[in-house]
Amino acid sequence: MKHLLGLKNVSKEEIKSILDDAMAMREILDSDCKKASLLAGKTIITLFYENSTRTRLSFELASKYLGAVAANIAASGSSVSKGESLIDTAMTINAMAADAIVMRHSASGAADIISRYTDASIINAGDGMNEHPTQALLDMMTITEAKGDIKGLKVAIIGDVKHSRVARSNIYGLQKMGAEVVLAGPSTLLPKQLDELGVKVYTDVEKAIEGADVVMGLRIQLERQKAGLFPTIREYSKFFGVNEQRLALAKEDAILLHPGPVNRGVELSPEVADGAQSLINHQVRNGVCVRMAVLNQLVNGKTYINR
Ligand code: CP
Repeated sequence: MKHLLGLKNVSKEEIKSILDDAMAMREILDSDCKKASLLAGKTIITLFYENSTRTRLSFELASKYLGAVAANIAASGSSVSKGESLIDTAMTINAMAADAIVMRHSASGAADIISRYTDASIINAGDGMNEHPTQALLDMMTITEAKGDIKGLKVAIIGDVKHSRVARSNIYGLQKMGAEVVLAGPSTLLPKQLDELGVKVYTDVEKAIEGADVVMGLRIQLERQKAGLFPTIREYSKFFGVNEQRLALAKEDAILLHPGPVNRGVELSPEVADGAQSLINHQVRNGVCVRMAVLNQLVNGKTYINR
């Protein structure tokens, strides 16, 4: 792979290879001296047109742990605020001999566009409502660690599926790895084309969670309430929030995931967010391993475990 724009066009074998590498990369993250030379002499630029804590920081740390030079451009402090276009910005970064550009943008397809104008590998760190591939990869790594295998698991994704790039990447990735994916949320937050993706859709959260091995809450973007897509935050939480009663409908050993940031008391009750089944902090830690694996594979063109 030259670029990672989404999981729609990534094969099961490629996903497995990234997950295997990410698990092996954990030895670097867990060591006293987090330093490898896999990306020595390489330059990784993070270009974020939207806010981020987890994705941006984990890509920066992953780059540095592998020995690369890492630099960030936030749109607000750059020439983007003077009107420079996305393509001109990407070509400017490319001219400085970047080996990879990690980009988040509010427009679906933005990463795909700049991949046509640069020599650097492009990694999509979230593009509008389209995809967030490394989030789904770190979710799959967390599931694999907890359950041994993704194949045959029931994964219930709950919330604002319509606007969620995390949901879309997880649907593509989890199905390729053999999971059954079910979705639930308010009907106004479920896109119409879900049937084409081969997932079961419920407006009743209880039915989706029943017997699930994995329950994944999605962040509710609070501006959706202002847009009239659900009546009030309190009603959303009452009918669609994952709480102890609802989580108890899943398998006894079910795990709870959330991409973050969590609106506590809205999509997850504080009890389940901090409970024994929650692997939210594991997801964050695994994010660094997955991003090390992706950077190494794209920039060096080879896997870590077969080095
Ligand atoms: N999950 C995720 O993308 O979080 P950030 O917005 O903090 O990067």
